[in-house]
Amino acid sequence: MNGAMAKLDQCLNMDDMRALAKRRAHKMVFDYIDGGADDEWTLKQNSRAFENYSLHYKVLAGVGQPDLTLSLPGAQANVPFILAPSAGNRLFHKAGERAVAKAAQKIGAIYCLSTLSSFSIEAIGQQIATPKWFQLYVWKDRGLVRDMIARAKAAGFSALILTADLPTHGNRERDPKNGFTIPPSMGVRQILEALKRPAWTWDYLTSEPVRFANLMDKGPAQSLAQFVHDQLDQSFTWDDAEFILSEWNGPSYVKGLVRADDGVKAIKSGFEGIFISNHGGRQLDGAPAPIGLVETMRDRLGDDITLIVDGGIRRATDMLKAKALGADAVSFARPYLYGLAAAGEAGVSRALELFYSALLRDMVLLGASSWQGIDGRFVGKKKT
Ligand SMILES: Cc1cc2nc3c(=O)[nH]c(=O)nc-3n(C[C@H](O)[C@H](O)[C@H](O)COP(=O)(O)O)c2cc1C
Repeated sequence: MNGAMAKLDQCLNMDDMRALAKRRAHKMVFDYIDGGADDEWTLKQNSRAFENYSLHYKVLAGVGQPDLTLSLPGAQANVPFILAPSAGNRLFHKAGERAVAKAAQKIGAIYCLSTLSSFSIEAIGQQIATPKWFQLYVWKDRGLVRDMIARAKAAGFSALILTADLPTHGNRERDPKNGFTIPPSMGVRQILEALKRPAWTWDYLTSEPVRFANLMDKGPAQSLAQFVHDQLDQSFTWDDAEFILSEWNGPSYVKGLVRADDGVKAIKSGFEGIFISNHGGRQLDGAPAPIGLVETMRDRLGDDITLIVDGGIRRATDMLKAKALGADAVSFARPYLYGLAAAGEAGVSRALELFYSALLRDMVLLGASSWQGIDGRFVGKKKT
């Protein structure tokens, strides 16, 4: 076993994985994954809020082998966790989204490809057969929206996720402090940092320049970030969302909701599901932690809508709490991105396997024989 694999084997949880990513990745890249908006209050709150809940386990429940399978509009999966969309994965490791998609397929999880991926819709579409969903931002150019939807359909993506919480970019201050841009520019400071991270730097220098692969025809790499910025539509409304749904005409989710009244509008517009999410604390600092919203959303929206929760999930027990509070499934990005930045596909697989084996163990400890069967009787709330 080589040194990198041995270090990976020693990772027992997502904090360990994060530490390994920090050691391998360039500082500006690690901070892009790790950071949040403004004071990062929401980012911290996302994880801390899980502490408001406890798990009330049953004993002698005859659990046997727990059933982790998941059935949602647009996918059947072996595990109840979903790999959330994340942009530009080749910045973190040259194998990028290909590595993440392969690891997701290996464990049987739903994989979400970002609009701003660094491998194309077609490349990932051909690579994996397991459930794959496509995430869309709300672009001003409706032709571009139509084009992306058609490409995702043709490439076999089985659900569309419309990300609604990015009408403009959040204020992530670590990035300008590090001089970080997409694609990265290498001034003196970045070069000095690059020397401290030889494995990342070798990867970066010996592979193709990182591009937003789905926008290759929109100009040179240097101007793509500006193109994306200019294309984000601040005037977008629920009526416009209906246009997207009619173009897609299949299972659909809207991502980035924190309010039950927006949930009501999502149902009215025709979405089958909602990602209760604040973009991992990267958009509006001060936004509430998703886990604290699940119960209200479920009570207000009823049982027919699919609820997926993301933000701050770092343990299998966080997943169990989310399900017990009323979520159908959970999702995360940083845990697999730390794995990717630490060791490519092997790192992503290690992160997913840690979650998988912990879920199996923790369901036995909880006294739950199936993911589906975990309900409100298993969770308690801290009195505040
Ligand atoms: C580096 C990074 C890039 C992201 N890119 C996207 C994206 O392209 N589209 C999107 O809808 N969400 C994006 N997200 C948000 C995630 O999909 C997800 O909502 C969030 O990260 C969940 O929080 P967690 O990282 O604590 O699990 C990104 C998150 C990170 C960390």
